Amino acid sequence: MSVNVFLVLFCCVAVVLSQGTGSGNDGNLRLCIVEGRGAYKRAPTHCPVLDKEKAGIECVLGTDRLDCLRRISKGTVDFGVFSPEDLVAAQWANIDVLVTNELRFRSKPFARNIVAVVNRRILPDHSSTLHAVLRNSTLCHPGETMDDLRPLSETLSGYLERLVLERSCDPTLSNTENKLKALADFYWQACKAGPWVPDPNRDAELKSKYSSLCAACARKCSADDPYWGNAGSLTCLADGVGDVTWGEADDVAAYFKIKNGTTLAGAENFAYLCRDGTWRDLSQEPCVWLRRPWNIIVAKRKASEAVIRVANSLSDSGAVVGAGWRGALAALLEARAAPAAALRPPRAPLDYLAAAHGFREAYSQPACDPPRHIVLCTTSLLANNKCEWLSEAGAVYGVAPPLQCVRREDTAACLRAVRAGECDAATAGSDWLVPALRDYNLTAVLHEVTPIVEKTNTIVAYVNSDSQISKMADLRGKRAAFPRYDGAAWHSVKHYITQHEKVSCKEYVESYFKEICAPGLDGKKCYEEGEADALKSLVEGKSDVAFISMNTYNTFKDSAAPLSNDMKKIVPLCPEQNQKYCFVSWSSLGHIFAANNITLTRKHELINVFTKLDQLFGKHPPFHNPMFSMYGAFNHENEVIFHSNTKSLAPSTVLKTHPYDKIPYNLELIVSNITDFTCDFGAKVAPSLIMLVATLVVFLINS
Ligand SMILES: *[C@@H]1O[C@H](CO)[C@@H](O)[C@H](O)[C@H]1NC(C)=O
Ligand SMILES: *[C@@H]1O[C@H](CO)[C@@H](O)[C@H](O)[C@H]1NC(C)=O
Ligand SMILES: *[C@@H]1O[C@H](CO)[C@@H](O)[C@H](O)[C@H]1NC(C)=O
Ligand SMILES: *[C@@H]1O[C@H](CO)[C@@H](O)[C@H](O)[C@H]1NC(C)=O
Ligand SMILES: *[C@@H]1O[C@H](CO)[C@@H](O)[C@H](O)[C@H]1NC(C)=O
Repeated sequence: MSVNVFLVLFCCVAVVLSQGTGSGNDGNLRLCIVEGRGAYKRAPTHCPVLDKEKAGIECVLGTDRLDCLRRISKGTVDFGVFSPEDLVAAQWANIDVLVTNELRFRSKPFARNIVAVVNRRILPDHSSTLHAVLRNSTLCHPGETMDDLRPLSETLSGYLERLVLERSCDPTLSNTENKLKALADFYWQACKAGPWVPDPNRDAELKSKYSSLCAACARKCSADDPYWGNAGSLTCLADGVGDVTWGEADDVAAYFKIKNGTTLAGAENFAYLCRDGTWRDLSQEPCVWLRRPWNIIVAKRKASEAVIRVANSLSDSGAVVGAGWRGALAALLEARAAPAAALRPPRAPLDYLAAAHGFREAYSQPACDPPRHIVLCTTSLLANNKCEWLSEAGAVYGVAPPLQCVRREDTAACLRAVRAGECDAATAGSDWLVPALRDYNLTAVLHEVTPIVEKTNTIVAYVNSDSQISKMADLRGKRAAFPRYDGAAWHSVKHYITQHEKVSCKEYVESYFKEICAPGLDGKKCYEEGEADALKSLVEGKSDVAFISMNTYNTFKDSAAPLSNDMKKIVPLCPEQNQKYCFVSWSSLGHIFAANNITLTRKHELINVFTKLDQLFGKHPPFHNPMFSMYGAFNHENEVIFHSNTKSLAPSTVLKTHPYDKIPYNLELIVSNITDFTCDFGAKVAPSLIMLVATLVVFLINS
C-alpha cells in the first residue's frame, strides 16, 4: 500500500518537475484546445483539474485547430491534438512544429486503408490496365459528405475517381459539372447518392442532366437511398447492381465476414482490385489504394521532449488514466481509449504524412489548364492571410475551384477590381449595397445572414424623449444625423419616408429635413463618419434625430463611456408600420459582391465554393469542422472578412423564405427593387449645387 502511494507520487513528481520548458507560467506546458459547437464543453470540466493538481500543464483556448497550430509554431503554446488533414492544410505555411505522438484507437498502423472491390464478372481473362477493367462498368459510389467522420472526404473520393478517369476541363462547365461529366462518360452507370452540391435546386438540375450517375440507385439518389454511404455502396455491389466500389478495408472485411470463418454467401464472386490493374481474392491481404494516418499530438520543437514524457505517462500509468489530472488530460486530448504511441524521434509534419501511401498525393491533383480559381479581394494583410488559410482548409476538403486571395487598399478598390474582372468577389457591408449596384455594376450573390434580429444590421430612428417627436411624420423639418452619406441609413430612411409620408423623392431630398448631417455629402463636414458621431450629435442636441443601428445604441447605453449617462433620454422612435421591430430597415451583416455580367456557370461556381466553405467552416452542427472557423477570430482579431454573428451564407432567395420573410423592411430587397437612382444626391449629380439650392430653400423658409 505505502509502496503504491510512493510510486504514484514519484511518477507525478517526476513528470511535474521535468516540465519546466513550457511557455506558460512557471514553465507550465500550454495545451491548445478547441471547443466543439455542442453543449458539452471540455475545458471547464477538465482544465481546472490540471490546475488543482499542479500537473504543470495549463489550457489555452484556440479559435480552431489551425489557430492552435499557428500558435505552436510561433511558440506561444506548446502542444495540441491535430488531424492529418490539419497538417496538409498547414503545409504551405512552413510551420515549425514536430509530431510527437500518434493517437491510435486500434493497434493498426493507419487509421484508414481504402481498398477497391469488384464483381469478378468484369475481370478480363488476362491481366489488364485499371482503365480497361473499369471502363463502361457500373460504379457504386459511397457518396460524399462534409463530415470527416466518414472515411472519404470529397478530396479522397475525387482522388480515387481520378486515378481512373481522364480529367474533363470544359471551360463552359463548372468545376463540379466537369467532374460529374468525366464520371458519367467513363462509367456505364452509377449510384452516386446524396447531395452533389449544397443548393438543392442546382442539385436536382445536375442529377437530371447526369442521370446515369443515379441510374443504379435503389431509390431517389438521395442520402436515404439504401445504396448511399459506405455500407450502402457495399450493398449495391453485393446485390449485383454495380461492378465496383471502394471503401475502408475493415468495413469490407466485416461486410463479407472475411475474418469470421463463415464468409458471406457469394463473397467468392468478388475480388480486391489493385492500382496496377491486377486483382486478389478477398481472403488475401488487400492491396491498399490510399492510407490515412492517425490523429497526432503536435508540439513546439523546444517542448517536444517534455510533451512526449507527458503523453507517455498517460499510457504507462495504465489504470491511473481514468482519474486525476491524467484522466483530465486524456479527455482533453481525446485520448481516453487511445494509447499515445510516441514517435522516436519526433517527426516533421511532412515526413509523418509521407509514411501514409497516397495520402499527400491525394491533395496535390493536377489542375485544369488554364487553372481556375475564385479570386477573393481583401483589404488588409490580416484579411488576406485569413483568406489564404481558408483557401488551404477548403482545398483539403475538395472545395474547387480553389479560393485565391488578392489584396487591395480598401473596399472601393476591391469593388473596382471586381468590376474590372481582376477579382471574382469582394465582401462589403450594407453601406455599400447601393454604390456597388449603381457605381460598380455589381450584384450581391450571397449574404451573411442571421435570423436573430438584435444581431443583424438595423437602422432605427433615435430621438430625445422630451422632444415632442412621437411619430415618424414629426421628423419633417427637423435636423437629421446620418452616419454617412449614401450608406444603409441614408437609403433606408429615404425609402421609408418617400413610401409612407407621401412625399416625392425630389421633395424629400430637397426639403424634408431642415438640416442634414451625413459625412460624405458634399460641402459640410459636421462630424466624423460613423454611427458613434451621429449618436453624439443627437445626445449633444445638435440634431433632433439620429439614424443608427440598435447595436450601436445598445453598446453606448450599456457602456461606461461618457455618453452613457446622457443616453438615458434617448429613445427609439418606432415607425407606425413596424411597431414590432421598431426599425426603418434591416439588412444582412455583410454581402459577397460579384460582377453583374458573369456567366451563369461562373455564378454557380462562385455560390458553390462559398456555400461549401460555409458548410465546412461555418456554424452548421453537426458538420462543423474544428479545423477552421471562418466567422471566428483570426490571430485574436474579430470580424476579419466575415462577421462573428453570421449564421450562414445564403443567396438572396433566402430573404423571401422563413424566418426572414416575416421581418419587414429588408434593405437588400428594397435596393434590388430600385431601378432609378437619379432622384438622389447621387454622386454623379453635382451634389453641391443641390445642397446649395436646398440650403437656400431652408434659409428662405426659416427667415
Ligand atoms: C456498355 O455497357 C452496356 C451494358 O453492359 C452495353 O449495353 C453497352 O453496349 C456498352 N457500351 C460500350 C461502348 O461498350
Ligand atoms: C462471426 O460472426 C458472428 C455473427 O455475425 C459473430 O457473432 C461472431 O462474433 C463473429 N466471429 C468473429 C471471429 O468475428
Ligand atoms: C454597367 O453596365 C451597363 C450595361 O450592362 C453599361 O452600359 C455601363 O457602362 C456599366 N457601367 C460601368 C460603370 O461599368
Ligand atoms: C463584364 O463587364 C466588364 C466591364 O463592364 C467587361 O470588361 C467584361 O468583359 C464583362 N464580362 C463578361 C463576362 O461579359
Ligand atoms: C418591389 O417592387 C414591387 C413593384 O413595384 C413591389 O410590389 C414590392 O413590394 C417591392 N418590394 C420591396 C421590398 O420594396
